[in-house]
Amino acid sequence: MPYVTERTLTDIALERWSDIPDPRLKEVMTALVKHVHAFVREIEPTQAEWATAIDFLTRTGKMCDEKRQEFVLFSDVLGVSMLVDAINHRQSSGATPSTVEGPFHVPNAPPMANGANMAANAPGIACFCVGKVRGLAGEPVAGATLDLWQTDGDGLYEAQRPGIDGPWMRGIYRAQPDGSYLIRTVAPIAYTIPMDGTVGELMNRTNMSHMRPAHIHFAVNAPGYHGLVTHLFQAGGEWINDDAVYGVKEPLIVEFKKMPAGSKAPSGEIMNEPFYLVSYDFVLERKAQAAAA
Ligand code: BEZ
Ligand code: FE
Repeated sequence: MPYVTERTLTDIALERWSDIPDPRLKEVMTALVKHVHAFVREIEPTQAEWATAIDFLTRTGKMCDEKRQEFVLFSDVLGVSMLVDAINHRQSSGATPSTVEGPFHVPNAPPMANGANMAANAPGIACFCVGKVRGLAGEPVAGATLDLWQTDGDGLYEAQRPGIDGPWMRGIYRAQPDGSYLIRTVAPIAYTIPMDGTVGELMNRTNMSHMRPAHIHFAVNAPGYHGLVTHLFQAGGEWINDDAVYGVKEPLIVEFKKMPAGSKAPSGEIMNEPFYLVSYDFVLERKAQAAAA
């Protein structure tokens, strides 16, 4: 083996990391060595800086447990989570695009009847979401499940509301035989990503926004179709152009139409208070129609 010099070290390390029987692991590890070496050659860290980097990663790892995932948040703010999502969801044009799931989804939300209010005791302005779940050819996707989660009108998810007994701001609706759905909730508001960890420490040393624009999360699933995890964003909302986790895609920005008190809601009732009306069709892609992976 040749002795190492600054010039030869990368090639020597690459050669050693090529000796891996699993072809995918070999591909991943040689790319990692190549790019990390290139990164270090570019920034030429001092040893104190490298120790700071290791300390940052160590403290990030120590913050992770089954409730908090600071590494995922780090990946989110670097734009890497959305890149992985994009690579894995190359839908045909016309299908509703995906976004990151984020950390606040809680499985097994309560089933909701069509039109039921999933925010019955929550603060915020009433908001009705109506539309259809359909396929790319326009066919209704009867029975599709729409699993929703979102902040309440104070900007808090269930996990952030102390003393909540039972599900909060989440529910699973089902598309009707014609593919239609009707959801009653309250309008979400913009909120900050968790800033009390190492990611917040880093963000506070930048001029970047740590806010996410107002959105509702949806996971839409039906047999025979690709599952969709996405958000609907309020058009014109603050931070729509600089979402801290890069989740905004143009087709997911929708008008939250403000309706005055006395207007008829899609449920048929006359509302005493102003409310929002959101109309959106989710377009799913049949499994056989997907672009080759
Ligand atoms: C969210 O939308 O819930 C979220 C996504 C990524 C990081 C933090 C929050
Ligand atoms: Fe969210």
